[in-house]
Amino acid sequence: MGFVVAIDGPAGTGKGTVTKIIAEDLGLVYIDTGAMYRCVALEAMRKNIEPENSREMLEMLDNMQIDFKKNGEIQEVWLNGENVTTQIRTREIDVTVDRYSALKCARDKMTPLQRKMGENSNVVGEGRDVGTVVFPDADVKIYLDCSLEERANRRYKQYLEKGIETTYEAVLENIKQRYKAETEREIAPLRQAEDAILVDSTKMTIEEVVAEIERVIKEKIK
Ligand code: DC
Repeated sequence: MGFVVAIDGPAGTGKGTVTKIIAEDLGLVYIDTGAMYRCVALEAMRKNIEPENSREMLEMLDNMQIDFKKNGEIQEVWLNGENVTTQIRTREIDVTVDRYSALKCARDKMTPLQRKMGENSNVVGEGRDVGTVVFPDADVKIYLDCSLEERANRRYKQYLEKGIETTYEAVLENIKQRYKAETEREIAPLRQAEDAILVDSTKMTIEEVVAEIERVIKEKIK
């Protein structure tokens, strides 16, 4: 196992953006665990498989191949040989993915894959349970938090930039529901690991968050 950084926190904290920059700056392999659950949701929706249908879910999961490929600055997500980088970031997936990511069968499949990615490289993993379940012995654990309103605000702006039509209120409601689902689910709920360092990004810029996390990492490497 190489050097492992775990960054967890709710949706809309800037985790994805921040983790990408840190991976680039420090030469770490970026494990986007959320993208993997998004692939599960996308594949299930395409095949019309409801999360309750465990037999079909298991079969589907057994036949899923997820790969991350670097293409310049972008880390592409490939599902069964197809580039699904944009398809997994639609509003439809945003409002459905929690039903799939809460499934034991999905987590039983994804967690070992995530661990495998950390086997021979120095990595930064980002998600909800990276520091608590996937890499409980991570060298550095960060819990990135942010106020609900600011998280909704950031997500709303992202949708506008992508040309997705919605309202701030609808985004706020979705962010609230997701937070409830993620923190209250039975398996691998979102929580701050006891040994994680809390970074509240509500009033911080992306650059400030990156600088703070890199400071913690460099301190640990010393
Ligand atoms: O971070 P994200 O929005 O891309 O996450 C997508 C979904 O996957 C969301 O339902 C939270 C879930 N998730 C999870 O359960 N565990 C992780 N380690 C990462 C994401």
